[in-house]
Amino acid sequence: MKTDFCFPLTSPIMNACGVMDTTWEELVALASSRLGAVVMKTATIRPREGNPTPRYARFKYGSIQAMGLPNLGYKAYIKFSEELKKFGKPVIASVFGFNLDEYEFLVSEFQKSEVSAIEVNVSCPNAGEGIPAYNTKYLDEVLSRVTSIGDKPIGLKLPPYLTEKDVKEVSSIIKKYNVSYITLVNSYPTGLVIGEDEKPLIVPRNGFGGIGGESLKPIALANVAMFGKSMKDVYIAGVGGISSGKDVLDFFLAGADVVQLGTVLKENGLSAISEIEREFMDLLRGRSIEEIKGKALG
Ligand code: DHB
Repeated sequence: MKTDFCFPLTSPIMNACGVMDTTWEELVALASSRLGAVVMKTATIRPREGNPTPRYARFKYGSIQAMGLPNLGYKAYIKFSEELKKFGKPVIASVFGFNLDEYEFLVSEFQKSEVSAIEVNVSCPNAGEGIPAYNTKYLDEVLSRVTSIGDKPIGLKLPPYLTEKDVKEVSSIIKKYNVSYITLVNSYPTGLVIGEDEKPLIVPRNGFGGIGGESLKPIALANVAMFGKSMKDVYIAGVGGISSGKDVLDFFLAGADVVQLGTVLKENGLSAISEIEREFMDLLRGRSIEEIKGKALG
């Protein structure tokens, strides 16, 4: 199931950043699976323990989390990228900077590594103040810094936007720079789920957390469709609530070029991949992905 993306892929299905991709063991499991590429956990300069637990919970309509960017620090992921080469599939780095200098430093370090692309996370809801990509001036500055170093493709992981007007404004900023792909979307930044014990399901952020899974899917699909309309020259990775072949189909119909699995990998493990792939192949009914891309919207 070959696909068109900014580097060759044997499958258009990859993992979403942040799910089962923090440790060496988890990354080896992903690299040994049927996924077309492996996205590594968002790296910061220094290793981080992340927030106190419970910091992830499943609920009826999805997942809520406030992980707080637990990761081993960028040096570990640079080393992993060298060792993951032998699995023969593209490895994507993800980076988060607490300021412009950190973004620039992290991207320049990964530009010297073995990764195939660098996904710049400007949408983490659980670190720093606010969401970088919701501040358009700051987003512009981040892009100006990270797109002027090195030749590896730059991806941008965006948060959900609310209206077509917002999407047009953000697209006009992204278009000024050499961004190869956008990943749509990161968790809906601030949700609250209350449990049977009448308390929030998670502890950090006073119970607030990023929402993923089923609840996120219609929001993600709309963002894929809106950005697809306003940016023709950028590949789109669709992510948010994909747990079946029909979900994958919907993302391609909305205009995605590849898809990423998040909550479903956390809940069902790696066996979810081949099941979703098989269901999707059945629904394709012999058509190519190119034939169905964006077709829901005419
Ligand atoms: C975290 C980072 C993210 O980019 C995200 O969407 C959710 C959580 C984190 O580790 O806190």
